[in-house]
Amino acid sequence: SSMHTELEKLLDTAEGAEQEVSRKDFEGFKNLFHRFLQVKGPSIEWIKIQRPPEDSIQPYDKIAGRGLPNSVADCLNKLVVVKLNGGLGTSMGCKGPKSLISVRNENTFLDLTVQQIEHLNKTYNTNVPLVLMNSFNTDEDTKKILQKYTHHRVKIHTFNQSRYPRVDKESLLPVSTDLSMSGQSAEGWYPPGHGDIYASFYNSGLLDQLIAQGKEYIFVSNIDNLGATVDLHILHHLVNQPNGKRCEFIMEVTDKTRADVKGGTLIQYEGKLRLLEIAQVPKAHVDEFKSVSKFKIFNTNNLWISLAAIKRLREQQAMDLEIIVNPKTLDGGQNVVQLETAVGAAIKCFDNALGINVPRSRFLPVKTTSDLLLVMSNLYSLDAGSLTMSPKREFPSTPHVKLGSSFTKVQEYLTRFESIPDMLELDHLTVSGDVTLGKNVSLKGTVIIIANHGDRIDIPAGSMLENKIVSGNLRI
Ligand code: UTP
Repeated sequence: SSMHTELEKLLDTAEGAEQEVSRKDFEGFKNLFHRFLQVKGPSIEWIKIQRPPEDSIQPYDKIAGRGLPNSVADCLNKLVVVKLNGGLGTSMGCKGPKSLISVRNENTFLDLTVQQIEHLNKTYNTNVPLVLMNSFNTDEDTKKILQKYTHHRVKIHTFNQSRYPRVDKESLLPVSTDLSMSGQSAEGWYPPGHGDIYASFYNSGLLDQLIAQGKEYIFVSNIDNLGATVDLHILHHLVNQPNGKRCEFIMEVTDKTRADVKGGTLIQYEGKLRLLEIAQVPKAHVDEFKSVSKFKIFNTNNLWISLAAIKRLREQQAMDLEIIVNPKTLDGGQNVVQLETAVGAAIKCFDNALGINVPRSRFLPVKTTSDLLLVMSNLYSLDAGSLTMSPKREFPSTPHVKLGSSFTKVQEYLTRFESIPDMLELDHLTVSGDVTLGKNVSLKGTVIIIANHGDRIDIPAGSMLENKIVSGNLRI
């Protein structure tokens, strides 16, 4: 209740239309905070975890094997593509929305998304709209850029996710004293994770608007996942189901490798499919969770969801998503927590939810400049906004790339590569320290380039490095 008073005080600092939005946000926050206080102990009991039943995670080939209907356009006209666009590019040293970072031939994540959907709309003479879920961090910059697409054949809608108050780790009271986003107050607010989509999509009115237009399903994905294209087979599977046992939610999962320790996995729990995230795993079982033998697949965050089902569950207030408590330290040193939820956690709420085990190519996230190097290289080719692995690569797997801290920021990374090296035959690349690479370098096998502190290594233009270690201030 002291939280209640604090929130009322904060609300009083808002004016006009802002107050309306903030009131809805605060209702959502109060609900989340209340659940957070009630929860005792872990949200799952380890011994109750079961392997998902055989038919609840289907191989992609089985889905695709059924072929496509003549009426692809009819399927597409029921679809809305939603991209999660609340995040910033900070981890790659960029200011502003992550979606506005250039990833390939000057095209940003957003450009590629628009090109993909435009291509679909032109090919099938359809009207698949794009919806961006922005946050208060990304909305303004994103909207400015959207003008650039007015003449493209894609209708673009946006809505804003909620803005919740960060709370002090000890007192659990909000850290901001007013709603403004200037100065110190700005640090007091956060977008509460992509699980917020259900509430904010509904609250924005856009959900109802799209249903009224005859739309039935959304395909939701992270905007930084370049593999998250509209898959016509999955769409067909969803739209053309026999009545009676209609599936309202599909989660695309993919086989875990030893590098994928972080992603959530699907389990059977109390008779339903459920997403298990590492944050929910008791300490004693973390190694087991990370192993690839017991939990073989992970969530790509590519999700296909029924709009009518979202509406129903919202109106029944039947979505109690597990709370992720995310600790942060503010610039001034204050320890705070922010309460978040994940979009995939809602799988347990929907009827006849299904996992589809998709090829790895549908999971191509760009989180670091190491990922960026891969997608900028000749390992991929770009076609109508989609990246596909070059047929000239002889192994199906991508090379392992580890760029050091002098490459973390996109700006600096770009200055260190005069052009992107040929990587078709690369298996493993490690680069660290003050290193630059000249034009038309070719990298093959395992290549390690390490400039020690105070040294600098410049790889000359045209070099071919095959199974080589370059270190010290050696020039080759
Ligand atoms: P994350 O930054 O959360 O990436 O953003 P992650 O940690 O690899 O992924 P998860 O959270 O485990 O799935 C994933 C996507 O979600 C958006 C980001 O913009 C990005 O596209 N996002 C994240 C939001 O839209 N809102 C949020 O509050 C958080």
